[in-house]
Order: sequence, then structure tokens, then C-alpha cells
Amino acid sequence: MTKPSSTVVVRPGRNIAGLLSLPGDKSISHRYAMLGAIADGTTHLENFSAGADCASTLACLRSLGVKWEGEGSTVAIHGCGPRLSVPNSPLDCGNSGSTMRMLSGILAGQEFTSELAGDESLSRRPMARVITPLAAMGAKVESSNGGRPPLRITGNRLKAITYKMPVASAQVKSSILFAGLFASGETMVSEPIRTRDHGEQALAAFGAEVKRGANGIRIAGGPKLRAIDAAIPGDISSAAFFLCAAAVFPDSELVINQLLLNPTRARLLDILISMGVGISVTQLEEQHGELRGTLQASGGGLTGATISGTDTAALIDEIPVLAAIAPYTANGIEVLDARELRVKESDRITVLVTNLRAMGARVDELEDGLKISGAQKLHGAEIDSFGDHRIAMAFAIAALRAEGETIIHHADAAVISYPGFFDELENLVQR
Ligand code: S3P
Repeated sequence: MTKPSSTVVVRPGRNIAGLLSLPGDKSISHRYAMLGAIADGTTHLENFSAGADCASTLACLRSLGVKWEGEGSTVAIHGCGPRLSVPNSPLDCGNSGSTMRMLSGILAGQEFTSELAGDESLSRRPMARVITPLAAMGAKVESSNGGRPPLRITGNRLKAITYKMPVASAQVKSSILFAGLFASGETMVSEPIRTRDHGEQALAAFGAEVKRGANGIRIAGGPKLRAIDAAIPGDISSAAFFLCAAAVFPDSELVINQLLLNPTRARLLDILISMGVGISVTQLEEQHGELRGTLQASGGGLTGATISGTDTAALIDEIPVLAAIAPYTANGIEVLDARELRVKESDRITVLVTNLRAMGARVDELEDGLKISGAQKLHGAEIDSFGDHRIAMAFAIAALRAEGETIIHHADAAVISYPGFFDELENLVQR
């Protein structure tokens, strides 16, 4: 796949048509790679995420003594069992919060000291959310300026804890459950709002004893993990850009095959249907607890939506593109309870507001969200991704219905989750 150049020009389109297969889901790819590394045997993965974030996870695992080979999107990971090797330099997590937070859970259970570092954006992101529970389990975790990366983790024999997460975060939940593998006894985690369950599904697939009860998720320490073979379903958060592009043109017809449809990730489909998009799903299958299927989408007259509470948590990665198409809906989109957007790869609330205004939109910035009026006409503009992959891709979609060309600076940020994004968009847009 070609890497997008740092400045991309997007011209308006007429509609979206065609068939799409997406690189494997980023959340699942990270988890299968990490668990494959500490399992017995070789894990064979097909359609592994093409994104730079998952490449960061694989590179960190190599520094921890894990052998793997990859060819295209196929990766074979030769598991080391629970004991990894001491790395001889800091582990570079790049831009990936998932790598840093989830790997911390595994490193907390290793009997050595390791350091996790990241790029400028990752270095600003909050890590106290993993430091607190991992320290309570017995690991020593040092950070810089008030819980920010780099992290220095000295692992230990861990003890099981019962932990009520203050923030709804699937990365934190997975980190604690991964640490729970190394603890004596049963670790329990409860979350304020239900988040994506790929960690639980992956742990069960690799043979861990993990149960969801009324009070939370429990995991028994000390299981022997066994390698798996898996074909990773297409990333639904990447699909979101194309679905929203199809949604803004009434004549669009888009088919996406082998798409991840895990119910904890598919809230976007309900929201799009409620706004008027035609969506149907066929060929449903399940592998390792993850549902996938073929999705057909046709454009419609979009109404609008209010996204709040549990919906905000379920749609957290899709809000940038929903906000970017909001001006083209009849009634606009209001996003509430979304403070977490401020601590993603960029402050996504400020960046969305800045770029929408650059394109001529009326938008109100709220402390924990934003309010975008409907029935607006946008014009092409020079906008910036601020180094955030989902912002680069979201504004490519807004640009399709704007008047005139849009220039996206730092568009190469898309490589973080989807290096082929701009080429694929060009294939599917009709002009
Ligand atoms: C992810 C969880 C979410 C999401 C991120 C991937 C995961 O982050 O935004 O892109 O794979 O668990 P938080 O756990 O910080 O909400």
C-alpha cells in the first residue's frame, strides 16, 4: 500500500460506489499479537492491521525477545510463554496509546524493569489510569510529569485486585486483565460504562478463564495460554469513514465484506440507520467470539442525532467523522459526555471545531463535546490533521460534499490506522 503524502487535496464527489475489504481491526490486532507473544505455540494471524500502531506493538514484542515473521497482512508469532526477555533499550510505542497501556499490564508481571516511551502526542496522554491499578497489584510504575509517558515498569509477582475503573476505557480494562494473568488469585474489574470487549474475547480464545458477571469481569491468574489461528475482521472504525461518505450522498451503494460487527463496536450502524442510512447485513459468522459479516449501505437524507452517555463511549473513535458530516444532516449533531476526546491522539474537540470552522461551519465548542448545526453548506479550505489519523480521514469525508477543493496538511497521519485510506477513497468516489 502506498503511504499518503503529507499534503493531500480532496475534490468534491457525487457519490460512493463499490466493494471494500478493510485491513484487520486495530483493537483486535494489538490484543492477538500481545497474547500470542505470551502463549505457547505459534499464533497465525491473517488480515493483521496495516496501521503503524500495530506495527509498534510488534516492534515492542520483538524487543522483548518474541520472534515473529510477517508477510503482507499475515503474521506468525512464536509465543514465548509467560516470561519475556529484558529489552536492551526503551520500548518505542510510537503514537499508540493501546500499545503503551495494554503492554504495561503484561510488563507488570515480568521480573525485570522496562521503559515505555512514545512520540510527542503519546507523551502528552494520561497514564495514571493504568499506573494506579498496576501499582495496586504490586508493580512499581514510575512516570514523568503527573502520570505521563515515559513509563518505567518494574514487574513483580502480582496480587489479584478488585478494581472499579473511574474512566470508561477498554485499554485500561485489557491492561488490568492482562496483568491478572500473572496474579495469584482472581482479579476483578468493573467499568462505569460497558466498553469494547475484545480483551475478554481474546483472553478466552487463548484459553484464559474469563467471566463477565453482574459486578464486573473476573480473570483467574496463572493460566497456560495456547496459540490461535485467526483471520482478523475488517476494522469497523476505518469502515466508519466510508459509511459516512456513503451516507452524505443519496445515490451511494457500498458493500463491505468481512467487517467486524462485534456488538460493543457496532453502535455506529444503529446511529446511521436512525439518521436515514439504509444498512443491511448478510453472511454473519463468528470466530473467537468476534462477529463479522458483509454489510450493504445506501445513502439517504440524513436527519441528525444527539450522542451522549453510553453512546458516546461506544462511538468514541467514530465521533470525529460523525462530527465532520454533521453540517450535511438536516438537524445537526450534538455530542455530549465526550471529555475523553480531549485526551486522544489530539484534543479532538478543539481540532474538530477549528477545522469545521475553517470550512465555514457554525459549531459550538462545549467543555465535554460539541454542537454542530445542520443544513449547512461548507467550502473547501486548508485544514490540518494536527498529526491525528482520525482527523485527517474525517476531513477527507467532509471535503467530498464541500464546494471546491480541500487541502489536508499532515494527511500522512492516516498511516497510524489505515495507510491505504486515500487510495481506497479515490477508488470509491464517483465524480
Ligand atoms: C481502544 C479503546 C479506546 C479507543 C482506542 C482503542 C482499544 O480507547 O479510543 O482507539 O483498543 O481498547 P480508550 O480505552 O482510551 O477509551
